[in-house]
Formats: sequence, C-alpha cells, structure tokens
Amino acid sequence: MACAQTGSGKTAAFLLPILQQLMADGVAASRFSELQEPEVIIVAPTRELINQIYVEARKFSFGTCVRPVVVYGGVSTAHQIREVSRGCNVLCGTPGRLLDTIRRGKVGLSKLRYLVLDEADRMLDMGFEPDMRSLVGSPGMPSKENRQTLMFSATYPENIQRMAADFLKPDYLFLAVGVVGGACTDVEQTFVKVTKFSKREQLLDFLKTIGSERVMVFVETKRQADFIATSLCQEKLPTTSIHGDREQREREKALVDFRSGKCPVLVATSVAARGLDIPDVQHVLNFDLPNNIDEYVHRIGRTGRCGNIGRAVSFFDPDVDGQLARSLVTILAKAQQEVPSWLEEYAFSSPSTASFQNFASTDSRKCPQGRAFKDSSVTSQPPVPAAPEDDDWE
Ligand SMILES: Nc1ncnc2c1ncn2[C@@H]1O[C@H](COP(=O)(O)OP(=O)(O)OP(=O)(O)O)[C@@H](O)[C@H]1O
Ligand SMILES: [Mg+2]
Repeated sequence: MACAQTGSGKTAAFLLPILQQLMADGVAASRFSELQEPEVIIVAPTRELINQIYVEARKFSFGTCVRPVVVYGGVSTAHQIREVSRGCNVLCGTPGRLLDTIRRGKVGLSKLRYLVLDEADRMLDMGFEPDMRSLVGSPGMPSKENRQTLMFSATYPENIQRMAADFLKPDYLFLAVGVVGGACTDVEQTFVKVTKFSKREQLLDFLKTIGSERVMVFVETKRQADFIATSLCQEKLPTTSIHGDREQREREKALVDFRSGKCPVLVATSVAARGLDIPDVQHVLNFDLPNNIDEYVHRIGRTGRCGNIGRAVSFFDPDVDGQLARSLVTILAKAQQEVPSWLEEYAFSSPSTASFQNFASTDSRKCPQGRAFKDSSVTSQPPVPAAPEDDDWE
C-alpha cells in the first residue's frame, strides 16, 4: 500500500519494478491464443486513466517481449478482445470491461503475479468494491498470499485502509511519502467567496486574466458541465468538456484538444479528477467545490505536477460548501498555504458532525484501536456513496 502526493510519479513506481522483475525472471513472449494468461493486471477507475497507464506501460516495455494491452468500456469489445488474443502480459483495464473479458473466457488468471490497483481508495470505495471482490474471487485468481497486490493513491481514508487489508498479504508493506491525503505542496491554493449567482461572471473574469493558459474547470454535474462549456464557447473562449454522458469518442477528442492547446479550457466532472497527467495545466478552477476533501486533493493535483508550480482557485459558496471548510483549512495548513481568515471563521462556526473522521496519516495497523493518529487536525469525510453522478466513472 503506497501513498505519495499527486503528480509525484506513482505510475512509474509500480510499472518499472514490475517490468524489471518480469524481465529478470525471463518472462516468455506471449503468442496468439484465444486464452491469454497475463502476468500482470492493472485496474484504474476511469477509461482515460487506464489508457494513460497503458501508454506508459508500452513506453517502458518498448523493445522487450512484454506486451501490454488495454480494455475499457465505451468502445468496441470485439476489437479489444482481438488485441488481447494477439498476446498479453500486462492487462490494463477498467473494472467492468476487465471482468467481462475474464468471464468470456478470454483471460485466465493462473499465471497472474502482480495485481495493481491504481487510485486504490477509489477502487475500494462503495462504487467499485463489489467489482474488486469479484475480480479477486474469479476462478483461477491466485490467493492473496500467492500474488503481489499493489495499491497506489494520494489519499487513503482510514476505513478504506482497513478494507484494503482483505486484498493484501497479512504482513503487507505500507509506504508513505509525505502526508497521506495531503495536497501537493507545489500547488498554490486560493479561495474566492462567491454566491450561486455570481459564479458565472467570476469565472469569465478569471478566464480573461489567464489568457490562453491551460485550465481545468471542475463542476459538480454533467448538465452543469454542458451548460458552462456551451456558455464559454458562446463567449468565444475555446472550450471543451469531459463527463460521463459524452460518447467515449467525444471524451477522448476533448482530451486531445485540451492537450494540444486547441481548447485550453476543459470543463470536467469528477471523472477527470484523478490520475490524469496532462502537461502544462497551469490552473485548476473549482467552479463547484466537491463534497469530499479527498476529491479536492485529487482535482487540484491535475496542476503542479512533476515539480512544476500550479495554481488552484476554488469558488466557495458558504451556503453549499460550509461543511467542507474545516477540512479545507487543515489541508491548506498542512500544505503550508495561507488560510483566509473568513474561511477559518466558517471552519470554526460549522457544526462538528459525527460523520467527520480522521485522515489516516500513517499505517492504520500501527494504532492500537485501529484509528490512525487521533490527535490529527486533518479531517476527512468518509467516501461518498455512489451518487447518480458517479455513473460516469469507468
Ligand atoms: N523520475 C522522474 N523524472 C521525471 N519525471 C518523472 C519521473 N517519474 C515520473 N515522472 C513524470 O511525472 C509525471 C507525473 O507522474 P504520475 O502520473 O505517475 O503521477 P502520480 O503520482 O501517479 O499522480 P496522481 O496521484 O495524480 O495519479 C508524469 O508526467 C511522469 O512522466
Ligand atoms: Mg497516478
């Protein structure tokens, strides 16, 4: 179980040692067969993210006999299965399509040595937990003692850590770099107090000040994403959008246009909050704040990656975002950021709800009552149950 801040290079941290070990052990080149038995399975929560991991895996295995393949929803199953049949050592997939491929008998698990869960806390929360349990319970899957299970994320709520133990060897290694669940310290975080009705104007003002610099604008709902993207286009601002109601083709085109700079404004729902590594995203703007502090940490981590400086601006509507104030203040303090006094006031005046729990800053096993660092001021809400909006994951 490994944790390090957003943009710090966790992908290479699991891909390189796995590939190196496969090579050292003389992995056999896979050949065409109706049934493939990969040595490695990597799962991630969104199509775009798993594709990005697949591309990295191809880069790192270039010139070797190791063949990575990717499967994910929203595109032709037949094509992906044909690709799998041509040979597969490293199978990257989103949970649904991966399980489908296994159930169709196209992929066997008897040779599996490494199972990687990227964005592991998301893979084990309520949305994906059943799929992950089906995966490890699939016929032929080596027991947890007989496979290496690797989990990576920048955030690990304590309850998820405890559940993760079901998937790992009893003496699993917990590796944390920096503050678990902490925001990337290379991101300058700013908060603007707004009202529901002033947000749109303030967004336009913000976009005018940054010119053609690249910005990801996060909103809460798919409808809101469409609405904002359309209204920005009407203002002649080159904008595209990504959310779960868009066709996969459109989602991929949106990322291509954003990466190339053709559309330097990308309006996104939480589907783009985790893992995506897009160079030169100078800004993240939370038009709507998320209702969960971990989600905030991942969103602002789309900028300030790999040692670069980034900027995150968040619109704070006291009527809606009050419950997040306390966690935000702690996140800001931990990342050595200035805390606005008005935000602090909201934090102290907001009622302390029982649903608040401590962030796990360390290995939850090390705490006698199973609670990690009780004295912590960092608070995290439990993961939000899969809301209707969550269906755009995967
Ligand atoms: N040793 C390195 N030297 C230079 N660049 C690196 C190194 N390792 C990784 N990178 C680059 O850093 C960027 C961020 O890496 P990566 O996407 O793996 O971060 P991450 O820790 O997985 O972040 P997140 O939590 O957002 O998923 C990538 O562009 C990657 O190529
Ligand atoms: Mg990552």
